[in-house]
Amino acid sequence: MQAHSQRLATIPTEQLITDEQRQAKLTFDIAGCHFDLSRQRLDQPALDDLIVLAEEANVESLRNALFAGEELNISERRPVLHMALRDGVPHLSADLVDEIETARQKLFQCADAVRSGTWRGYTNKPITDVVHMGIGGSHLGPELITEALDDYAQATPKIHFVANIDGLDLATALKSLNPETTLFIVASKSFSTLETLENARSARNWFLERTCNKAAISQHFIGITNNFTAAKEFGLAEANLFSIWDWVGGRYSLWSAMGLPAAIAIGSDNFEQLLHGAAMVDRHFAQAPSAENLPLTCALAGLWNYNILGCQSLAILSYDQRLRLLPDYLQQLEMESNGKSVSREGEALDYTTMPILWGGCGTNGQHAYHQLLHQGTSAYAADIIIVAKDTANLPHHRNWLNANALAQAQAMANGWDPQSTDESHRAVIGQHPLSMVLIDELGPTQLGALLATYEHKVFCQGALWNINSFDQWGVELGKKLAEPIYRSLSDQHDLGSLYDRATDALITRLKKPQT
Ligand code: F6P
Repeated sequence: MQAHSQRLATIPTEQLITDEQRQAKLTFDIAGCHFDLSRQRLDQPALDDLIVLAEEANVESLRNALFAGEELNISERRPVLHMALRDGVPHLSADLVDEIETARQKLFQCADAVRSGTWRGYTNKPITDVVHMGIGGSHLGPELITEALDDYAQATPKIHFVANIDGLDLATALKSLNPETTLFIVASKSFSTLETLENARSARNWFLERTCNKAAISQHFIGITNNFTAAKEFGLAEANLFSIWDWVGGRYSLWSAMGLPAAIAIGSDNFEQLLHGAAMVDRHFAQAPSAENLPLTCALAGLWNYNILGCQSLAILSYDQRLRLLPDYLQQLEMESNGKSVSREGEALDYTTMPILWGGCGTNGQHAYHQLLHQGTSAYAADIIIVAKDTANLPHHRNWLNANALAQAQAMANGWDPQSTDESHRAVIGQHPLSMVLIDELGPTQLGALLATYEHKVFCQGALWNINSFDQWGVELGKKLAEPIYRSLSDQHDLGSLYDRATDALITRLKKPQT
C-alpha cells in the first residue's frame, strides 16, 4: 500500500481522471443516487490490492454472516439485523417476517391515525404537535428523515425533537404547546437513558400540572422501547408501546418504530419508500462482487485515505439544506460504530481506526472553514453531496448552490498553482481525496439508499479494521462519573473523594451562591 501511495503521490488527480475506464469503474448508480469516487487518490492497481486486503480481512464472509443473522455483536452477544426491517434480508424465518410485518402495520396505523386526526386527545381534539424525546440513535436518524423529507409532510402535526438534558431544550419545545393537542413519544431502546427519562418525567409533570388528569396520559404518551417493564413502570399504557428488537442497534434503529415521528410526518407510503430504497442497497451489498460493490469500495477508499494517506478527518459537505443534519447523523453512525481501539478478539490494535467525521451544509462553510480546506496543512477527505432537483422554486439559487459545490470539489481536487512567486499566498494545494454523491431528486427512496450505503460502508470498515462496530462501551465511563458529581451538585452527598482535584474545584465554584 505504501508503495502504491508513493507512486501515486506524483500523479495529480487531474491526470488520474483522464483514464477513460476510471469513470466506469469508480461510479455507481443506485436508487436515483449517483456515487462518483473518481476523484479518490487511488488507481486500479491500488484498488486491486485493497480488494486483496478485504479478502484477507474476510469481509465477504463477515457480510454473509451479517445477513445470516450470526452474533456479530460479540460483546453484547447479539445478531445485527436491522436490514430485516426493510425486507433487506433473504431467508428470514416465516415467524420473524410475520413479527416484523405486524410491528410495521402497528407503526403505520398509529402514524396515519395521528396524521389524519383520527387519534384524539383527552378533550377529543386532534393532535397538532408531536414531541419526540430520545437521544443518540433514538433521535438523530428520526430527526434527519423528518427534516430531509419535509416536502412530503403536507399539513401534518408539527414534530418537535427534544434530546439534550439541558432543560432549555424541553422548555423551548413546550413553550407554545397546548397539552390537549400534544402527543409525546418517549423513545429509548433501553428505557434507561438519563436524558430521555428526565425529559419524559418533566414532560409528564408539565402535562399533569395543566390537565390534572392522570387517565389522559394514555391518549398523550407513547413509548418506543425494548424494555416494556420499565416503560410500564413509568406509566405508559401497554397498548401505546412499540417494541424494538435487541438485534436492532440504536444507531441503526430509524427503520423500526423509532421512525414513528418521521412516519407521522411523511405518511406510511413514503416511509415504505424509504425502507425500499435502503433494501435496494442491502441487495446490492449482499450480492455485488467486490470490485462492483459500492459500500465496500467506499470503505476501501476511506481506509486508504485514513490509514495510508493520513487523512485525519472526513468532511461531510451537504450542499442541500434538507440534508443539514446528515453530518450529525453520520457522526454517530460512523464514530460510535468504528471509534474503537481493541480488536474483535479483545486485543489492543497496533493501527488506528476511524478519522474524525465532521461537516456542514451549503455554501456557509465556504465563508468559514473552507479556507483551511484549501490552504491549511491538515490532510482530510471529503464527501460532497448535491441534489439536482430544486423544490424551493428558486432555480437560480439551486444552480448557484450546485455550481459552488462543483467549484469547491474542483478546487479541492486540483488546486491552483500561481504563475509567479508574488502570488504564492494564493496557491491552493489540492489533491484532496473526494467522493461526490449526486441525488437526482431528494425523496424517501433516495434518502433510504444513501443512509443504507453509509451503514454498509461502516460495516465493511469495521470488518477491515477487525473491530466490533456494533457496541459502544466507551460512552459508559462518562455516564458513571456523572452520578456522584450530580449528587454533589444537588447537595445530596458530598462524595469529594470520588472525583479528582480539578473536578472538585469546579464543583465548589459551581455551588458558590451566585451574587
Ligand atoms: O449512550 C449511547 C447510546 O446507547 C447510543 O448508542 C444510543 O443510540 C443512545 O445512547 C440512546 O439509547 P436508548 O435508545 O437506549 O435511550
